[in-house]
Amino acid sequence: MPDRTGRNAEQPLNLASPEGLAALLSRRSVKTKDLDEPGPGPEDLERILAAARRVPDHGKLAPWRFLVFRGTARDALGRLIGECYRREEAQPDATVAKGLEGFALQAPVLVVLVSTPSDARPIPEWEQRLSAGAAGFALLAATHMTGYAGQWLTGWPAYSHELARTLGLGREDRIAGFFFLGTPKRKPSERPRPTREQVVREFTTAEEVSAARGRMLP
Ligand SMILES: Cc1cc2nc3c(=O)[nH]c(=O)nc-3n(C[C@H](O)[C@H](O)[C@H](O)COP(=O)(O)O)c2cc1C
Repeated sequence: MPDRTGRNAEQPLNLASPEGLAALLSRRSVKTKDLDEPGPGPEDLERILAAARRVPDHGKLAPWRFLVFRGTARDALGRLIGECYRREEAQPDATVAKGLEGFALQAPVLVVLVSTPSDARPIPEWEQRLSAGAAGFALLAATHMTGYAGQWLTGWPAYSHELARTLGLGREDRIAGFFFLGTPKRKPSERPRPTREQVVREFTTAEEVSAARGRMLP
């Protein structure tokens, strides 16, 4: 059983986990309209967040933060988002504002992932942003493996300067996404995925590499 940091002292490094792989191969998002109670409880959520903190991170900068909203904290966040919309937009639309007030209520648990690049060490910002993306995926994968489902959404709130200010984000900080977590009401239909041919090209000889110079992508 992993501890709160996600570490498992007894686990060998070369652990083969067909179940884990099967979970990754079957993962898919569940739209928020199909997410219901219960959301992950405190213990499950701790492990999900521990998995998200174990992502590759060049320079040990931990260039990401997680804001967790549950219960009535989601109502309060929704109201803040509505206020930000009314302040930020020159001609706010009442229906859109109302919709945004309900934004945070789309699932029992909401995790806001913030990309927080640091200049404490000379690690390119691009790499720190990629690490935040990896944290988002780890969050979703761990959610799926814990028996819940989630969806990564952005939309207006992710790009709002007012909301960023309200959350206390720094100048370089960006909202990477809102992760809505809950229990799926129904099995989601499969989504077409890119085929191997579309996105993978494999080279097995030196001649293939030479012949493909300048046009290696599939
Ligand atoms: C950075 C990012 C932002 C996203 N924002 C939205 C969004 O605002 N609305 C939406 O419908 N899907 C959004 N998606 C897509 C869904 O999270 C999800 O990937 C999609 O529904 C397909 O599900 P899958 O995880 O099974 O591939 C976003 C995905 C990413 C990576």
